[in-house]
Amino acid sequence: MLFDIAQKLLLQIDPERAHDLTLSGLSRTANTPLERLYRQPRNRAPVSVMGLEFDNPVGLAAGLDKNGEAIDAFYAMGFGHVEVGTVTPRGQAGNPAPRLFRIVEKQAIINRMGFNNQGVDHLVANLKAKKSPALVGVNIGKNRDTPVEDGKLDYLHCMQKVYAHAAYITVNISSPNTPGLRSLQYGELLDELLATLKQEQASLAEQHGRYVPLALKIAPDLDADEIASIADSLLRHNFDGVIATNTTLDRKPVEGMLHADQAGGLSGAPLLPSATAVVAALHSHVGDRLPIIGVGGILSGEDAAQKFAAGASLVQVYSGFIYRGPALIKQIVDHYNAR
Ligand SMILES: Cc1cc2nc3c(=O)[nH]c(=O)nc-3n(C[C@H](O)[C@H](O)[C@H](O)COP(=O)(O)O)c2cc1C
Repeated sequence: MLFDIAQKLLLQIDPERAHDLTLSGLSRTANTPLERLYRQPRNRAPVSVMGLEFDNPVGLAAGLDKNGEAIDAFYAMGFGHVEVGTVTPRGQAGNPAPRLFRIVEKQAIINRMGFNNQGVDHLVANLKAKKSPALVGVNIGKNRDTPVEDGKLDYLHCMQKVYAHAAYITVNISSPNTPGLRSLQYGELLDELLATLKQEQASLAEQHGRYVPLALKIAPDLDADEIASIADSLLRHNFDGVIATNTTLDRKPVEGMLHADQAGGLSGAPLLPSATAVVAALHSHVGDRLPIIGVGGILSGEDAAQKFAAGASLVQVYSGFIYRGPALIKQIVDHYNAR
């Protein structure tokens, strides 16, 4: 009810302003009596993935709370985990606005934010200030002005900074809005990156006395051979999980609609079939050897059920949360429990 009213108002204003207003409202009201405006009972459907215990299999996808400002509010809504970031070593402004577009008729979003964030030190301060027991994944990336060949240094830097404060760490090589980033998904560049990060994970695990799993987030715009090759690399390097998928460059599902020609990544309902197909293709290669987190186009409990059926152990939502609100969490958990 409250969400319906808030959404009507927010859909009237510029999307990025609506996002910023919502996030600052959530950040200010978390852990205060006003939290009851959005607090929901925690629907339990415990699941163990990557060695971590999740209260339920529904998480908030990366990019909504890039700086970890409102983790406690998302926990209060009932998310089983919250993925913050993408964070980069140094804060950066991202692409010039406008850079966020709604295609409401298709329950879709196009964004070319470009990793706008306040840098890893700021994120770590917010992680330290968190009061709830939220299970937090940290999604890490590279600064725009770091050459792709040096990208791994940025990932290492972020990993070292966030390791003590993250339940798991996601290596994002699939944003379409940082030039050259997606080239890290292929061949030797990928192998070298995964090897370096696993080595660092081993030494950080020893240093901190705690093993923090590493997941790789991939794009939906990959053919069958490319998916097979990524799956092989992940298994070869004993990666802990894979998140499929990020936004797509494909525009066919929204052809002819207002904003469809905007540059960036498309998310929301039109992404469901292709993102779920990537989950299925990955699962056919890795079976139960590597957990898959399914994300892309989930707007209902039924959509999430498709991801689980395709082989996902957890799901995440971004666009669906914008269009359907916190009620989506309960819908997905109820569906999951009814299987
Ligand atoms: C405005 C916006 C910003 C995003 N920023 C990030 C990001 O910083 N890092 C990331 O890994 N994914 C980012 N994503 C991708 C989402 O995490 C998710 O993978 C994608 O939107 C597909 O899920 P959905 O259809 O539920 O939105 C962003 C998505 C949107 C719409």
